[in-house]
Amino acid sequence: MQTLHTIAELRSVLSEHRRSGKKIALVPTMGNLHRGHIKLVEVARSEADIVVASIFVNPLQFGPNEDLDSYPRTLQDDQKKLQDAGCDYLFAPNNSEIYPEGRDQQTLVEVPMLSDLYCGTTRPGHFCGVTTVVCKLFNICQPDLAIFGEKDYQQLRIIRKMVSDLCIPVEIQSVATVRADDGLALSSRNGYLNEEERAAAPAMQQTLQLTCQAISQGNHDFRQLESEAESQLSAAGLIPDYVRIVRRSDLLPAQAGDSSLVILTAAYLGPTRLIDNCEIDCNS
Ligand code: PAF
Repeated sequence: MQTLHTIAELRSVLSEHRRSGKKIALVPTMGNLHRGHIKLVEVARSEADIVVASIFVNPLQFGPNEDLDSYPRTLQDDQKKLQDAGCDYLFAPNNSEIYPEGRDQQTLVEVPMLSDLYCGTTRPGHFCGVTTVVCKLFNICQPDLAIFGEKDYQQLRIIRKMVSDLCIPVEIQSVATVRADDGLALSSRNGYLNEEERAAAPAMQQTLQLTCQAISQGNHDFRQLESEAESQLSAAGLIPDYVRIVRRSDLLPAQAGDSSLVILTAAYLGPTRLIDNCEIDCNS
């Protein structure tokens, strides 16, 4: 695997492959790779001739009081994991390669409405940072295919809308969340948890499962279920940010009679913010 730090280097190697008709897949990441990321690379490997992973801790998607400075940067370990997973190129630019005129001068890409809901309410500007960098990565790499994890459900939905609205010729493929044995969704931020917090963390997945169970047993009082789920999180020692039962189609609050649903949640354990979700088909 080759590690490239500049846009010019990446474009140069990829243009050769494109000319010879090779299918290129991109796996965008912020590094500190775990089994969830490696699964994305494996899917990319099985779908494309050339696999590119990117590692860029994108300052634009962090709020002023968030963990940009402490976000784990583990390039050497990540390189080894990517190499072992069969990645061909790692694109690891620095901030000035991606934002040469600084973040304040950067043209932004914003998906309205969806970016303001749920995680977007708690983290204003976060999704605009995500769509801006993902759009740039798509333009830099021009992949045929890009792979994202389903843990970041709202992010995935927003990226699909951006690609559709801006007619970006990239197929978006999603991969199911990879979990620890106790059900906790793998996330780079799990590394922030102390022993006690780590022991409490699976309550998130358990709460989602209980809510899904209640829905499949015929309880469609979604607002009541949301508030019960928040109480369950609190009882387990988490501070709920939100639990929302929404339609998969537009992520708006589910109403009685809606069938394809997803439960989205975010909660804090100490200073660490975790997210998770669970799809459920509801037969009325
Ligand atoms: O999901 C992530 O790791 C990031 O939001 C992404 C898509 C790599 C953009 O920085």
